[in-house]
Amino acid sequence: IRIGVVYGGRSSEHPISVLSAGSVLAALDPAKYEVLTLGITRKGAWVRTDADPRQLQIAGSELPEVHSEGTGIVLRPGTSEAAVFADSSALALLDTVDVVFPVLHGAYGEDGTIQGMLEMAGIPYVGPGVLASAVAMDKLFTKVVLEAAGLEVGEYVVLRRGDPVLAADIERLGLPVFVKPARGGSSVGISKVRSYADLAEAVDLALEHDSKVLIEAAVTGREIECGVLQDADGTVSASLPAEIRLRPDVDWYSFEAKYLDDATDFDIPADVGERMVRAIQDAACRIFTALECSGLARVDFFVTAAGTLIVNEVNTMPGFTPISMYPKMWAESGVPYPELIDRLVATALA
Ligand code: DAL
Ligand code: MG
Repeated sequence: IRIGVVYGGRSSEHPISVLSAGSVLAALDPAKYEVLTLGITRKGAWVRTDADPRQLQIAGSELPEVHSEGTGIVLRPGTSEAAVFADSSALALLDTVDVVFPVLHGAYGEDGTIQGMLEMAGIPYVGPGVLASAVAMDKLFTKVVLEAAGLEVGEYVVLRRGDPVLAADIERLGLPVFVKPARGGSSVGISKVRSYADLAEAVDLALEHDSKVLIEAAVTGREIECGVLQDADGTVSASLPAEIRLRPDVDWYSFEAKYLDDATDFDIPADVGERMVRAIQDAACRIFTALECSGLARVDFFVTAAGTLIVNEVNTMPGFTPISMYPKMWAESGVPYPELIDRLVATALA
């Protein structure tokens, strides 16, 4: 199978996508796959990269990037320019593959845009289609659809650029709140706000990433994630759920806590009891179906002390980095990483 692995991209999650692609590439069995790697720079230039997965890694605290400089592309200062090369027809190369794995997070990748392009070109791809990707990328529309499907989402307020922040809204939500770009990922642009005085700055930060901002009530509860996988015959199954446990000195699951600081522990399966495990798995599958996802998704929940399950968000191209939960949860559920990729590709080709 000739597979195109597309990574990098125009979103703020660019380096996370590069890390994810590194792991995916390392898990592709060379006996089964002929791999074409295509990087997208932050500016949107497509470049063919003969990337060695070992280059697509974090170096200390330095995150990898797809660069295009003149005729050469450098993945990270100091790493093998020789291994990568510019190709103005990189985009056209998509036409030569059997299937694309768009290992892209955030805008222009996880939001229906590349999915639409691949649909137009008739190229099969891993993951949800245009509508599900676009809805799940947008935290407002995710809540609207999931509420309509009878699922519980947290309290929130939507602001568009120029809208005032109303004290009454904040009183209703209670402090602290989380201020988020409506379409984002990996916690980029998100702030936890404890006092009304800090709200404007947090809204401004979120507005740097999107013209639409959500202010969400902080949910007191355990942070639980669940992987969903759809097989080629259409069967949808859920992984064992995981609990993210933050170190006591870590305030919330920020970008730094996720990728840079050694700030979290996780339990797979989450130690919530068998009944709750099943409830989480059922809800994750219902959410997958309600959003009309295909292929895969990772659903993130809070479980309150009273045992209520609140959906936080849905990721249609969840992280595949070496520390990411989606492949880890499946590995613990009896699906090793290479098999997971094989099944995702089989579904894309079905
Ligand atoms: N948005 C990141 C990649 C995740 O959900 O894992
Ligand atoms: Mg996310």
